[in-house]
Amino acid sequence: AEAEKGGYATFMEKEINDQPHAVADTLLGRTDSEGRLALDELHISEDELRAVTKIVIVACGTAAYAGMVAKYAIEHWTRIPVEVELAHEFRYRDPVIDEHTLVVSISQSGETMDTLMAVRHAKELGARTVSICNTHGSTIPRESDAVLYTHAGPEIAVASTKAFLAQITASYILGLYLASLRGTAYGEDAAQVMAELATVPGKIEELLTRMDRVKEIAYYMADSRSVLFLGRHVGYPVAMEGALKLKELAYIHAEGFAAGELKHGPIALIEPGQPVFVIVPSPGVEHGLHDKVVSNIQEIRARGARTLVIAEEGDEDVVPFADEVIRVPHTSPLLAPLLTVVPLQVFALHLSTAKGLDVDQPRNLAKSVTVE
Ligand code: G6P
Repeated sequence: AEAEKGGYATFMEKEINDQPHAVADTLLGRTDSEGRLALDELHISEDELRAVTKIVIVACGTAAYAGMVAKYAIEHWTRIPVEVELAHEFRYRDPVIDEHTLVVSISQSGETMDTLMAVRHAKELGARTVSICNTHGSTIPRESDAVLYTHAGPEIAVASTKAFLAQITASYILGLYLASLRGTAYGEDAAQVMAELATVPGKIEELLTRMDRVKEIAYYMADSRSVLFLGRHVGYPVAMEGALKLKELAYIHAEGFAAGELKHGPIALIEPGQPVFVIVPSPGVEHGLHDKVVSNIQEIRARGARTLVIAEEGDEDVVPFADEVIRVPHTSPLLAPLLTVVPLQVFALHLSTAKGLDVDQPRNLAKSVTVE
């Protein structure tokens, strides 16, 4: 097992450092002989895919946060309404699904019982099903009408990292594929987005070389009792994933919030010394969202929060209100989660290590939950 860790102390650390490859390999070989995007297995006709009126993404845990990121991108690119639902909630409701609904499951293992049951339920209701999965030949892709495999390689650590980045990457590919199939404006630009995606692995690699400060922050925060995470737009699911990593790995109470929701409740939690990570949208994001999040940082700082700010290189607006600034390379706003989540993974890893906990096998958790 030591050799399999490739010189790292834990599988999780290795898997975090594998992420440039997880993204690059998931992007590889996605175009057919005519340069069109393609899925790995397709037992749905292209006409049926053109007739899709709604997409429902079902997943659990980290995969469900990948699904939330996917919603922003897929709706923007395809103009098809996208819902995201936890698989176990979807399964026992009476969801409005018909043959024009595309149910997309996301699962690293392909064996999560809750997700499998949701896929079966969707099929019973007549939906078409697509599986985004990291495990070849596992149950969920076998039972789905179409498959897009993530190529993250085997993920051993219980807490998911590289599979998450690969899932987000695959969902972008699915969105662009559907956009090109349906002839939306973004379908025409699919090649351009794919080209930008191809630059992301190098950016993750660069980001990973400067995580020393994040490690130091994790060590001096080892006694924290509660950590909050704020994000907006695609940074919102990243905030929730950052909180989940901290719960899973360091057993610290953590919560992720939509930054816009702050004034509707969470701001009451801010007291002097409360650590808050803030994922700042790229200054290029639409609708002035960047400035709104900078105002949120200012508001919580004024109430004594310790602000740990994840911001793009060159974004100087955050500096006056940040106790720490963690820099990520520039990308277009929809692709940013592939970068902004990385410091949060590294933070949880080191905080767990600082507390002397089992990074790869946190208490009470299983890698794949094959029971309901
Ligand atoms: C378990 C794991 C999580 C994972 C979730 C979904 O709870 O501990 O890390 O996100 O299952 O797993 P899946 O294999 O379906 O992606």
